[in-house]
Amino acid sequence: MTAKNNRIVSGMRPTGPLHLGHFFGVLVNWLKIQEEHECYFFVADWHALTSEYADPRRIKGFVPELVKDWVAAGLDPQKCVIFHQSQVKEHAELHLLLSMMTPVSWLERNPTYKEMCQQLSQKDLSTYGFLGYPVLMATDILMYKPFAVPVGQDQLPHMELTREIARRFNYLNGEFFPEPQAMLTEEAKLPGLDGRKMSKSYNNGIYLRDCMEEVKPKIMSMLTDKNRLRKNDPGDPEICNLYPYHKLLSSQEKCAEIEEGCRNASWGCVDCKKLLVEKITEFLEPMQERRRKLDENPDHVWQILDEGSKKARAKAKENMEEIRDLLGFKY
Ligand code: TRP
Repeated sequence: MTAKNNRIVSGMRPTGPLHLGHFFGVLVNWLKIQEEHECYFFVADWHALTSEYADPRRIKGFVPELVKDWVAAGLDPQKCVIFHQSQVKEHAELHLLLSMMTPVSWLERNPTYKEMCQQLSQKDLSTYGFLGYPVLMATDILMYKPFAVPVGQDQLPHMELTREIARRFNYLNGEFFPEPQAMLTEEAKLPGLDGRKMSKSYNNGIYLRDCMEEVKPKIMSMLTDKNRLRKNDPGDPEICNLYPYHKLLSSQEKCAEIEEGCRNASWGCVDCKKLLVEKITEFLEPMQERRRKLDENPDHVWQILDEGSKKARAKAKENMEEIRDLLGFKY
């Protein structure tokens, strides 16, 4: 069964500030999608508990920061529903119901689960909740019966499980959930300052909330083509960490110019970095302006979340009533 709507749902865990990797990997897509679809974007704070359970109070501080990053980046609460997972209690109820019919073996064989266990090896993740992470994710999605979910490649196994859970529910209770498709959006490859993947744990990121005084030295210290020791040595943009940034931020003509200048050594790495500082300034400034406005009124972010959660709750309530009815739990 496919959904006859253009609704999409997606979420992020509130675990820290967003960087350019998040922006070009996920957020650009959300910005495009909000123009074309009925969107539900949410802060997955219950999901953050799977790794932060030992210190749950930490999560609260990350929630408004995540929304601020979103809105500063251009998500518009007039165009999409921005909501707060833990404030739509229906998610807890549907999670329980879905967990009762999800075979443990499906969860144990999930490659994303195995990978996350390895990545977060310093934390004890042998919890019931962590194993059930994809059931909660399936809940977040199915609750709104979307036709698609914009996610990164790494979330595909979770999406497959979501569809399997939907099929099982439908098989047992009659057709109810449409099977949501993953909306795989092209992932921009943006290395961190040191050439590795941009990541909080590598401390190699440029954050959306960084001011230019922070960004400038980061860029000036970036690794470029390591074989290019002197300005007169010809360089190779293909192995330079800086060039992917230009590809995302500078015009095509400028990129062609840079490429040529780098290869024939008429254009040095410092020139290239200075230009990038300019480009990043142009890129971050409107975001910083929106962030300043949000900071002037700290209640505003919570209002956005409250209003969004109200809308999400209305939809969730409607669907939950039907589900209870289907399962004979309407009393
Ligand atoms: N698992 C997602 C991530 O780590 C976050 C998430 C939770 C999510 N629930 C979701 C994403 C529902 C899309 C839809 O990024």
